[in-house]
Amino acid sequence: MARFDFDTLTDRTDSAAAKWADRTENEKRAGIVPMSVADMEFSCPPCVIRACEQAARHGIYGYTCADERFIQAVKGWMLRRHGLEISPEEITVIGGVVPGIALAVRAFTKPGEGVIVQPPVYPPFFSMAEANGRRLEKNPLLRDASGRYRMDFDGLERLASKPDVKLMVLCSPHNPAGRVWTREELERVRDICAPNGVILVSDEIHSDLVLHGPHTPMLNVDENAVMLIAPSKTFNIPGLQLAVALIRSPENRRRFVTELSSSGHGSVNYFGRAAAVAAYEEGGEWLDEALEYIGENYRVLASFFARELPDLTVSPLEGTYLAWVDFRPLGMQKEELDRFLREDCGLILAPGHIFGKEGEGFERFNLALPRAHLISALDRLGGKIKEIQHAQ
Ligand SMILES: Cc1ncc(COP(=O)(O)O)c(C=O)c1O
Repeated sequence: MARFDFDTLTDRTDSAAAKWADRTENEKRAGIVPMSVADMEFSCPPCVIRACEQAARHGIYGYTCADERFIQAVKGWMLRRHGLEISPEEITVIGGVVPGIALAVRAFTKPGEGVIVQPPVYPPFFSMAEANGRRLEKNPLLRDASGRYRMDFDGLERLASKPDVKLMVLCSPHNPAGRVWTREELERVRDICAPNGVILVSDEIHSDLVLHGPHTPMLNVDENAVMLIAPSKTFNIPGLQLAVALIRSPENRRRFVTELSSSGHGSVNYFGRAAAVAAYEEGGEWLDEALEYIGENYRVLASFFARELPDLTVSPLEGTYLAWVDFRPLGMQKEELDRFLREDCGLILAPGHIFGKEGEGFERFNLALPRAHLISALDRLGGKIKEIQHAQ
């Protein structure tokens, strides 16, 4: 018996939701639910809503710290869900995972030095290095005919052995490829990076959102890694701006924390802390049900493409709630594809080219939405493509 409701759509028009605010007047009138930015169209777990209400009723929203209850909540979650033992001094609260990437870039590299990223990948992986004057070293993922991605270890070896390459930013699980890297794959990354003195920053914001796992926390493979985690994607609370850097190496922690304090950051969001405690202590059952629902949404999407548009390959989804579809067989240029999907089909997606040139011709579907809205989006797409085929 389902305990939680993922079928009801909450209207976010008046909540300044970034994704909803981006709609045109026509799209608003048509009631189109965007499938672009990676937050969920599901209400947060009831335990999180209760914790926020209680925190709001308190009436004093003062300077907040990472207290013992918060530390224990993070520790307990990581041990129960991921088999990772962490001690309190390894936990540093930050305002988000992207700020964590920027801090790591500044802490572990100098201007002009190289940072390895593996496109197609979440765009701030590029911008946090480039905006800080570092050089991008791209090691594109390899894709097979089934749409499954893997890492190019030879390419990685070549880049990691350059003397001024000091950092690799890994996306684990990978957005948008949907891969949950295996322990063996992560060990190979460590075996290439460590001897070359390349520090690994592992963005594990999607690590709780695993459909086919298990997820392997990088600290269980590499003691020197900087792991970035957050309750934000998992429990749909990214607006509360709280994430955690887990750093075991005292030297790496010193460098990261120095960068954090010298940039003036380091305070803890009052509501973020309250929500994170509730989510990590009590949100597990909600997450299990959310993952089942997302898994079924993926099956609906994958069978739609297999049945109606078999030329377009959907990558297998092991983790994240983001499906990655290859639209290149339609033969459209990227601007034409963007326009066709948005204006003709009424689909608001994340266009693949924002994830690097390797993503051109692909589209990313956010599957964390009520199923009825996913189905109507797919119907609009199928109908439009049939119309075109008949006209030809
Ligand atoms: C891989 C990855 N890292 C980081 C973020 C965002 O992190 P934050 O909002 O904590 O800065 C996202 C959001 O989509 C993401 O997909």
